[in-house]
Amino acid sequence: MSEKTVMDDLPKRFREIFKRNSAVVARAPGRVNLIGEHTDYNEGFVLPAAIERATYMAAAPRKDRKVRLVAIDLNRETSFDLDAIGISQEEPWSNYIRGVAAGLVQAKYPVQGMDAVIHSEIPIASGLSSSAALEMAAIWAFRATGHFDIPSEQAARIGQRAEHEFVGTRTGLMDQLASALGQQDHALFIDCRDLKCQAVPIPKGATILIADTAASRELAFSAYNERRSQCETAAAAMGVPWLRDATIEKLEAAAMDEIVARRARHIIEENQRVNETVSALREGNLQRVGLLMDSSHVSMRDLYGISSRELDTMVELLRSQKGCCGARLTGAGFGGCAVALMKSDAVKAAIPVVAAAYESRTGLKPSLYPTRAAAGAGVLPVK
Ligand code: GLA
Repeated sequence: MSEKTVMDDLPKRFREIFKRNSAVVARAPGRVNLIGEHTDYNEGFVLPAAIERATYMAAAPRKDRKVRLVAIDLNRETSFDLDAIGISQEEPWSNYIRGVAAGLVQAKYPVQGMDAVIHSEIPIASGLSSSAALEMAAIWAFRATGHFDIPSEQAARIGQRAEHEFVGTRTGLMDQLASALGQQDHALFIDCRDLKCQAVPIPKGATILIADTAASRELAFSAYNERRSQCETAAAAMGVPWLRDATIEKLEAAAMDEIVARRARHIIEENQRVNETVSALREGNLQRVGLLMDSSHVSMRDLYGISSRELDTMVELLRSQKGCCGARLTGAGFGGCAVALMKSDAVKAAIPVVAAAYESRTGLKPSLYPTRAAAGAGVLPVK
């Protein structure tokens, strides 16, 4: 759906369901990570961009402390009380919203009860941060209906807490920051130690192509948390607080399990690659950016162990296209999407070729779509 169609349709759906008008529509985009994978929870560097696909919430405040939610794509609804927010086993999709509501209340923001209708264009569990987009859309809806302001960094932290405490994945902050702070036609170079964020222009003539493998992420939550623990073990073995502070020399001098050492090597080298990618983007050196993306994929496949047969196939096909600078899996891994940086004039021809070859090799129907880097979360006025 285009933004205009959503803006025409969502307030109408709100009226049909709640028999009154919505006051605002909050919008929060998904994200694609160009490079810097699993580095965020090691206080390292990341380079994501917000994407054009977003999650929308049409909302209006209520006079009581109740929050009523209708997820129109899932055809589900649920409600909770702001003074007694618990985890829902029956409606797990709502835990992201329950989690951020609990975080806002705990931080003493004047959250009000609200009615809301939710629609998302971001495929679930595909590595494009549909959950962070839902969290940020909810925060922006609460902030507009409760008439308060909140710094984006704190909004991101409240989203992260919802993931840790209401969902059970010990994620970093990249997804929430990208959804909150995205800038049109720019990637965001984020230092996850102090959360400083610099916008890096995507060079003219380059296009981001997202390629969804249509392979679901098996056991992603437990494997994700396991990677995080392995990083903590490696940091402790080297006597550094975070892997951000480690070096290859320290790694080679320390005694640790071989798998743990491989995980740590990925993080140390990936941090280096992010910094080099930022310099190459600023110089407009797309070939160098592509090579760094390619090595990032190899490292995630061989050292971090988060690729899959489908992701490797997709990345190989993307890379073999004329005009492809580089390609890699994006997001947590274990399934989901790959991302390629393409010469813009080569995108149209590449899409059908990659889609057909991927389907014949895997039997799965992929979705490939170019995206511009988009603006971060915001509130759109209802007409
Ligand atoms: C998920 C998490 C992020 C980050 C990525 C991997 O998207 O939510 O915090 O760790 O995986 O880079």
